[in-house]
Amino acid sequence: MERGLFITFEGIDNCGKSVMSRRLAEELRGMGYDVILTRQPGGTALGQQLRQVLLHPDADGLDERAEALVFAADRAYHVKKLVRPALEQGIIVICDRYGDSLVAYQGGGRGMDKAFLRRLNAFATDDLVPDLTYYLAIDHATSAARQEGGCDFIESESAAFFQRVIDTFEALAAEQPQRFCRIDATQPMESVYAQVKAAALERLAAR
Ligand SMILES: Nc1ncnc2c1ncn2[C@@H]1O[C@H](COP(=O)(O)OP(=O)(O)O)[C@@H](O)[C@H]1O
Ligand SMILES: [Mg+2]
Repeated sequence: MERGLFITFEGIDNCGKSVMSRRLAEELRGMGYDVILTRQPGGTALGQQLRQVLLHPDADGLDERAEALVFAADRAYHVKKLVRPALEQGIIVICDRYGDSLVAYQGGGRGMDKAFLRRLNAFATDDLVPDLTYYLAIDHATSAARQEGGCDFIESESAAFFQRVIDTFEALAAEQPQRFCRIDATQPMESVYAQVKAAALERLAAR
């Protein structure tokens, strides 16, 4: 059987990951593909619990190393239980955030060792790398302007923190142009989505 396609969405909060990943999943389903839309942290029952630990405002007691390891634990379980089995059945898996977020936030944002975090991702996922990763690029001011209501623990970090996260995403995308599709996500939604769709169809045709 043909292996599925593993697609991830990356970028800072409010760049459009949820909106674009949902729309892409719907479109591909409409074309007759089997699609699973999932997210990290989350995506499994354990993942939902870990998500609460990581993103709830009361999580401010989590040490940065513990935080990185909980993200990695979620990723390990999610890949083993859901992502890999689906890909082996020929299903397209679309995941809202994956390993690049660990490198960007814990590495770029918090200043932890990026090379180690990449090895941690490889260990957690048993080397499962996405076929296609969208980096939806926006600046911190755009993210803040799109924010509604309260913000969670990580969202309340400083503008300097977000600039380091953005710089790290940019470096990852520039370093791996064959995997990444970088889109200027400050453009109108229709324009962003047209580019999202085009890149996915291109990868599917190239399988
Ligand atoms: N290109 C865009 N232009 C304007 N608003 C956008 C765009 N993309 C997303 N949004 C809006 O920004 C908010 C955050 O989008 P969302 O998909 O939830 O981001 P994320 O999942 O990356 O945090 C939503 O209200 C969404 O409608
Ligand atoms: Mg989202």
